[in-house]
Amino acid sequence: MSSNPQSRRILSGVRPTGALHLGNYHGALRNWVELQYQYECFFFIADWHALTTGYEDTSKLQENIRQVLIDFLAAGLNPGVATIFVQSHVPEHAELHLLLSMITPLGWLERVPTYKDQQEALKEKDLATYGFLGYPLLQSADILLYRPTYVPVGEDQVSHLEIAREIARRFNHLYGREPDFEIKAELAVKSLGGKNSSTYRQLRRRYQEAGDTESLERARALVHSNNRITVADKERLLGYLEGSGVTILPEPQVLLTETPKVPGLDGRKMSKSYGNTIGMREDPDAVAQKMRTMQTDPARVRRTDPGTPEKCPVWDLHKIYSDDSTREWVYNGCRTAGIGCLDCKKPLIDKVVEEINTLRKRAQEFEESPELLRNIVTEGADKAREAARATLDEVRRAMNLRAD
Ligand code: TRP
Ligand code: SF4
Repeated sequence: MSSNPQSRRILSGVRPTGALHLGNYHGALRNWVELQYQYECFFFIADWHALTTGYEDTSKLQENIRQVLIDFLAAGLNPGVATIFVQSHVPEHAELHLLLSMITPLGWLERVPTYKDQQEALKEKDLATYGFLGYPLLQSADILLYRPTYVPVGEDQVSHLEIAREIARRFNHLYGREPDFEIKAELAVKSLGGKNSSTYRQLRRRYQEAGDTESLERARALVHSNNRITVADKERLLGYLEGSGVTILPEPQVLLTETPKVPGLDGRKMSKSYGNTIGMREDPDAVAQKMRTMQTDPARVRRTDPGTPEKCPVWDLHKIYSDDSTREWVYNGCRTAGIGCLDCKKPLIDKVVEEINTLRKRAQEFEESPELLRNIVTEGADKAREAARATLDEVRRAMNLRAD
């Protein structure tokens, strides 16, 4: 692990609305598994977020949390490397949410595009609640609490990241001021020590004059890795990079990773709300059966009609699962009507089933041991709380909620 983890920290979460599917696996989890070896990672199950839309019936919540946790572990998230926890086990999320709610203009929340969209999409539910409006703010608290460098999320979450960044900026602006900031910051630069001082100055200039974010990143890392300066000086130096004042809550960046398009059985994006999913650990026979009737190129009605792979969701799955020679066989066979859709699906079904079997096998030990699962999330919550408390301490101090 890097010697200055805090400058290379990652945080992300999912809502426990049920067992995860192949869209979650290829769209997020596989990426997280890679990231856990490159960054200090926090991955959590956002159970409070599940309540924002599912408050009426909470009877399945514990079971859903358990399933998602098993999916995390089956995918290869390693609790010895990454911190894996459940949101509600770390009540600090709620405290930061409350404090941030004081400075969040209602208009910011009302303008988040997912607010109206989701209300529209979930018309059967009454989502004119305080909690639902506050969804992006709770998410902002989740994020800012850990002061991560990056938050890996899909396109659909970008607007939530944007509000998290705005709230951080507003918080720093309101509570990060101090008299003589510039003078104190300059003294802090000096206390970095000869070579580090001049590197810091150089990087700061490059960021401020040319907007070079790489320099900003490097300067932040330089500050974090310095163990001789005080916490207060660290915050000054971080804030001084961007000019304003003390940075108590750094602005996180979105980490948009290239992930494949994962179509569902009906050809639309695989999504729980469309009911078109293949579960990560679903029964293999059921999966094979579902895939045999999966939507294909709608223009290919008869076996003798040539098809267009680009218009077929099955082809998108081949792009994820099949090797070059199989793909070539599919591509040519489809366009010339040389193969039928069932022929085409056969090797794909084999691959998907093979993957699901691997996931099921890995899940087994966790399914059999509730105690193992409990230990993982207890330890995860302990580690998460430690990081969360450090932030909250500074937040409380900055807001004069502490006497010392
Ligand atoms: N809103 C996210 C989703 O629906 C889940 C989430 C909650 C999250 N808190 C977060 C994601 C913090 C990233 C960071 O997918
Ligand atoms: Fe889709 Fe394959 Fe059928 Fe072509 S042959 S339409 S790619 S399922």
